[in-house]
Amino acid sequence: MADVQNISGNSVGPHRNRPTHTVHPLYVRVTHWTNALIILVMIGSGWQIYNASPLFAFTFPGGITLGGWLAGGLLWHFAAMWLLIANGLIYVALGLVTGRFRRMLLPIRPSDVARDLRAALAGRLRSEDPFRYNSIQKLLYLVVLLTGVVIVTSGLAIWKPVQLRELAALFGGYDGARLVHFFAMAVIVGFLTLHVAMALLAPKRLRAMLRGR
Ligand code: HEM
Repeated sequence: MADVQNISGNSVGPHRNRPTHTVHPLYVRVTHWTNALIILVMIGSGWQIYNASPLFAFTFPGGITLGGWLAGGLLWHFAAMWLLIANGLIYVALGLVTGRFRRMLLPIRPSDVARDLRAALAGRLRSEDPFRYNSIQKLLYLVVLLTGVVIVTSGLAIWKPVQLRELAALFGGYDGARLVHFFAMAVIVGFLTLHVAMALLAPKRLRAMLRGR
């Protein structure tokens, strides 16, 4: 009998007693941790830039910003932006080509999300199978990926509002793009807080994202 593959592409045929147990392929781990580092740089330098011309009646404490002053913040933000785009494109392209997105992140059924949310609120959400994400994880990952698209496009619109005026118009002009960019940052910071807390509560899953197995 020929080997068949499970949801992560591991052999589970006649050799199923010695599967490879690869939960996260190398490209996912490399792009994930590269992205985590880049996001921290983008947030810290973004807060530095925000402080030079705040949108709201508050600024971020200098100690959690990056760059020292406006020009320094801008340098970090633009340098990290290119890495964010390149790294994101590699992750998305490989996720689509290998079919991993379809296997791991879809489908997301509202009834499953409601069920998992009820279980989570009751403290009963179990995640024994490392090869599957629960519906809440799937939803959060999809939301953060889409927010990534919004934050990059609104950032480009703020950077080049004249050359990219059609893009800026999509966000209601320069000021609209600034607001969207800010709220997309807030969504990512909110996601990150929840995501890191969940990762620390599930050390086996954290190890799998580090070592693959
Ligand atoms: C620095 C702190 C971070 C830690 C400790 C962390 C940890 C993890 C872990 C353990 C997983 C696997 C979850 C599982 O198997 O149940 C995961 C997956 C994921 N994380 Fe993070 N992460 C971090 C930062 C980020 C950031 C900044 C983003 C994006 C803004 C992100 C987006 C994702 C996505 C989209 C997945 C699913 C990847 C896939 O399966 O294709 N993470 N993370």
